[in-house]
Amino acid sequence: MSLDFLGNLERTHLCGTLRAAEAGKHVVLMGWVNRRRDHGNLIFLDLRDRTGIAQVVLDAELCPEGHRKGEQVRPEYVVAAVGKVRLRDKDAINPKMPTGEIEIEATDLRVLNDTRLAPFSPSDDAIQNEEVRLKYRYVDLRRAEMQQNFRLRHDITLAIRDNLSQQGFLEIETPILTKSTPEGARDFLVPSRVHPGEFYALPQSPQIFKQILMISGFDRYFQIARCFRDEDLRADRQLEFTQVDLEMSFPRQETVFGVVEQFMKAAFAAAGVELPVPFPRISYDESMRQFGTDKPDLRLPGLTDVHSAFTSEALATLQVDPALPIVALRIPKVGELSRKEREDNHPLFDLKKGAKFIDDFKRLAKSFPEAAAKVRELAGAADEDFVIIVAGDPAHHIKASDTKFPGRLSEREINVYAAAGNFRAELAKKYAERHGAFRITDEVVQNARARSAALIDGSQAFHPMWLTDFPMFEYDLAAGKWVPAHHPFTAPIEADMPNLVSDPASVRANCYDLAMNGLELGSGSIRIHRKDVQQQIFASLGITEQEAKARFGFFLDALEYGTPPHGGIALGLDRIVMLLAGAANLREVIAFPKTAKAIDLMAEAPTPVSEQQLKELHIRVALKS
Ligand code: AMO
Repeated sequence: MSLDFLGNLERTHLCGTLRAAEAGKHVVLMGWVNRRRDHGNLIFLDLRDRTGIAQVVLDAELCPEGHRKGEQVRPEYVVAAVGKVRLRDKDAINPKMPTGEIEIEATDLRVLNDTRLAPFSPSDDAIQNEEVRLKYRYVDLRRAEMQQNFRLRHDITLAIRDNLSQQGFLEIETPILTKSTPEGARDFLVPSRVHPGEFYALPQSPQIFKQILMISGFDRYFQIARCFRDEDLRADRQLEFTQVDLEMSFPRQETVFGVVEQFMKAAFAAAGVELPVPFPRISYDESMRQFGTDKPDLRLPGLTDVHSAFTSEALATLQVDPALPIVALRIPKVGELSRKEREDNHPLFDLKKGAKFIDDFKRLAKSFPEAAAKVRELAGAADEDFVIIVAGDPAHHIKASDTKFPGRLSEREINVYAAAGNFRAELAKKYAERHGAFRITDEVVQNARARSAALIDGSQAFHPMWLTDFPMFEYDLAAGKWVPAHHPFTAPIEADMPNLVSDPASVRANCYDLAMNGLELGSGSIRIHRKDVQQQIFASLGITEQEAKARFGFFLDALEYGTPPHGGIALGLDRIVMLLAGAANLREVIAFPKTAKAIDLMAEAPTPVSEQQLKELHIRVALKS
């Protein structure tokens, strides 16, 4: 059909904002045709823009030209409708639509653009194929759910910026073309044309620069920072993502916690959720004992220590290591999970990791009825609850962790807890799928709070938790050496410093995580501000002076120029939005994300580049055939 020009037509209103109070007003609306219904002399167009939908009536008598065009327009055509707002007849009122009391009696319709037929329509309820959604992302983003997610993202980001600014933080941008940063993932490299054979790295985080900003006296810095990490993608991981990154001078851990609690409270309030502060705190060891993970989901029951339910005879028969923890996991009302669903989870138990699964409760109940009854009692299990028991496998040893550190969990103990924790998380996912409990849906902005009561175990929807007292080092079995559990600029807890070289495993880091509903939302630390301590840490990690100089020489130099004690944290902005949007994948809250195979299906990136470009960059590609 022939298309109209916009001419000097000016939009006066947004579709979704019209109400009965506007009746009688002359309006000009512009947007996409969501739906068209042809009733002969009357054609109804549902006109959609970012704010919602309004019904336009094309009457063959009142607006013959508009009606003629209306016969030819199709869904997703872009049109301008000129007309008068009028109240609908009583029986035509649609209480489900915010604009359901009115309609626009058109006097003119201009068809501004037509469209090719997309493989799906923005008004389809469920689109199964995510690859198609990502390829036609421009159409996908028109869907109400996506529009709402990005509105939410905007509101949250704005609230955080505003709040941090009020707390005295300055937003300062740090470079994107830079040098390798110490977050431990693979870098994305950018070849330099001017310096043949040399590369910039894209930042995995602004870590070093924000620390330098503290040396420079900025006192409180923040940035909504884009970070790049070449790592395998998962539901909560993208190659490029956004951090709420901050750093401050002279803080204690509690100072950082206070700052974060304030901006998180503001961010959640922007989404209509009240987040009580302060957030609870738990040590890493305690979190492992109670939840089998360092990112606990408090909406499910924790682990119960049931060691006392077993006699030594029982333990010997069951071939369980009596020195290791025995924990029970209660999954409420899991009678609803099928036998197969439970069994599907068994491969989770990697016995090589030293955990053992006492799965056949019936057999246990037959041979050791008292133990079985005691376990159910200790775990507080109701009849319909499912209980599993996880214990240590005596056949499994890990050399580096055979020593036990007073008051700290050994690696073997951690493995048992972690196995139970994994199982708990997997079952939680199944449980949530069945009950829709993790899916908070569209109304989140309006009433996430009202829904919070309805979740698993009647608990609140959003459970933040600070985790503290992490180990400073982890033993990397494959590499046969200690590696930093955080990054190498994290300060040790002062009281543990004397053991740095003699007993690295016993040293706690002055670092912390923020977890929420089974996700790691953020991570940070008090940093090392003294060169002598930094050198000691590098020595404990087996990083030679030469190596340290090559990797972070400029930073080590900077440390010698009057560095104040400082610390900070970074929170994953995408993850915060994902939680509040009730989404199951970061892709739902990132406008143009990558697939699990690291591809941008819409832009078709990555792609090969021309010989000429490669030549300018002094690069030759050698593909394995
Ligand atoms: P860390 O590496 O733990 O710490 O990252 C902080 C937070 O960033 C988010 N995040 C991601 N989100 C999406 N996709 C990814 N690939 C991804 N990787 C990390 C997570 C995580 O908790 N410089 C330190 C912070 C500091 O010490 O101040 C850092 O980057 O939510």
